[in-house]
Amino acid sequence: MKNISLLQAFRDRRTTNGHFDTRPVSLEHQHLIIEAASRAPSHFNSQPWRFVLVDDPDIRSRIAAIGGRTMQQLMDRGTFFQRYRKYFRFSAQEMDERRDGIFIDKLPGPLKPFIKQVMSDSVLKLMSSLGVSKILGEDNRKLIEGSPLLLAVMVDREEYRPGELSAFYCTLSAGMAIEHIWLLCEELGMGIQFISTPMEIPEAWAEVRDVLRVPDSLELLAVYRLGYRKPEAERPKIDWQSNQRKRISQLAFRNTCDVVEPDPPSNLL
Ligand SMILES: Cc1cc2nc3c(=O)[nH]c(=O)nc-3n(C[C@H](O)[C@H](O)[C@H](O)COP(=O)(O)O)c2cc1C
Repeated sequence: MKNISLLQAFRDRRTTNGHFDTRPVSLEHQHLIIEAASRAPSHFNSQPWRFVLVDDPDIRSRIAAIGGRTMQQLMDRGTFFQRYRKYFRFSAQEMDERRDGIFIDKLPGPLKPFIKQVMSDSVLKLMSSLGVSKILGEDNRKLIEGSPLLLAVMVDREEYRPGELSAFYCTLSAGMAIEHIWLLCEELGMGIQFISTPMEIPEAWAEVRDVLRVPDSLELLAVYRLGYRKPEAERPKIDWQSNQRKRISQLAFRNTCDVVEPDPPSNLL
C-alpha cells in the first residue's frame, strides 16, 4: 500500500486501459474497496448502493464475452463513434487547445494514414470490412476476462425512481462512492476501468443483469474491471491519453457566472 496525500491521489488517478497483473485482488483489498465506497456521502445516509464483487472466472468470462461482442457491434454500427466523435482528438496541439476529450496517441501502423478520417463513416465501414472491429472486440474480451476482479455497482430501486429527484440523488451518491473506490485504487497500486459497451445496447445490458442475477429490487448502474497495475504494462493496440484538464479560468466563475475566475500565475491543479 502506498502512502500518498489526497491531492497526490487526485493528480495521479487514471483510467487503466491496459492489462492488469493476473494475481487475484486480496480479500482484504476487496473489502477495503467496499468500505471506501460506503464512506461516500448519500442523501439522508440512505447508502442506496450495492455491489457485486466478481472473481469467479466463469462469470468474468461471460461478462467479458458480452463486453467484447458489444464493442464489435458498436464499431460495426458506427453509432458509438457518431455519438462520441466530438470527444476524440488526434493531435497534441488540438488536445492542448481544447484541454478535454481523449487524445488517440497510439494507433496500429496501417491506420495511421487515416488518422484524421478515422472516425468518418466511410473509414469505420472500411475498418469493419477489414475485420478491425472483430480484432478490437476480441482484445476487449481478453482485457475483461483477464481482469482479476469485476465490480458491479447497483442502487436500491426503492430510492432510484427515474423522473424523481431521488434518482438523481442516487446517481450522485453512487458516483461519489465510485470515485472513493477509484482513489483508493491509487493507494492500493490498483487500476480500474469502466466497462461501458454493454450499457450502450439495452439487450446486452439485460444479459449482464441476468449473468449477475440482479434482482428486480436493484438497478444495475455500472460495471468496472479492476486489478493490480503492472509496472510496465504494454499499451493496447489503440490507446489514448486523457490526463489533460481545463484551466481554472475555463471552469470557474467568481460570485456570479458573469465573472470568470482568472488563472493563478502557476496553474496548480
Ligand atoms: C460517466 C463516465 C463514463 C466513462 N466511460 C468510459 C468508458 O466507456 N471506457 C473507458 O475506458 N473509460 C470511461 N470513462 C473514463 C473516462 O474516459 C476518463 O475518466 C476520462 O477520459 C479522464 O481520464 P482519466 O480517468 O485517466 O483521468 C468514463 C468515465 C465516466 C465518469
